[in-house]
Amino acid sequence: MIIAIDGPAASGKGTLGKKLAAHYGLRHLDTGLIYRAVAKALLDDGRPADDKTAAVAAAAALDPARFEPAALKAQAVGEVASVVSAIPELRAALVAFQRDFAATPPGAVLDGRDIGTVICPDADVKIFVTASPEVRAHRRALEFAASGAPMDEAAVLADIRKRDERDMGRAAAPLKQAADAHLLDTTNMDISTAIRAAIDIVEASR
Ligand code: C5P
Repeated sequence: MIIAIDGPAASGKGTLGKKLAAHYGLRHLDTGLIYRAVAKALLDDGRPADDKTAAVAAAAALDPARFEPAALKAQAVGEVASVVSAIPELRAALVAFQRDFAATPPGAVLDGRDIGTVICPDADVKIFVTASPEVRAHRRALEFAASGAPMDEAAVLADIRKRDERDMGRAAAPLKQAADAHLLDTTNMDISTAIRAAIDIVEASR
């Protein structure tokens, strides 16, 4: 089974992906981490976010087994990730790895922006997770605070709006709901309600 989860920044898709994978005994790939790892490599090397050649080279050198989510989740890394991820050559260089991951038994849950539309158009189940920008900013601000790097919630909201615009407005694999994806709006749901709703969607699609 392949489950594709897409949605905007801080919609809860990562948490849902992890929980669904555990529930169904599938592997899980947070594809945002891949773009974040490329962004971090550029930042570490002092390269600009639109350096196509450096981005593709960084992608070729990635070792997803050694990703450190804590370092990759920083706000500055997400910001650069949302810029580098608009480079078509970079996206093309990352397709095979993601498809191979999805196709490896026993199957997988992948979450990102273009899983249901580009990476796994034939996924068994597609879920498009959203929540209002304000609720997403609030959740993200709580995460930053819990990680010891608190950020002003208004600044987080501004960043989320900017990223939404960039992710939905780019020409290469923009964020959008696949025609056959189920919409899950978690604005008024706590995490356990959202997980229950996601499992219900999977069960109804099997
Ligand atoms: O989901 P996350 O916030 O970690 O993703 C960071 C950035 O990587 C996003 O803003 C988006 O621009 C990019 N991304 C993407 N395609 C994916 C996953 C993430 O373009 N499948």
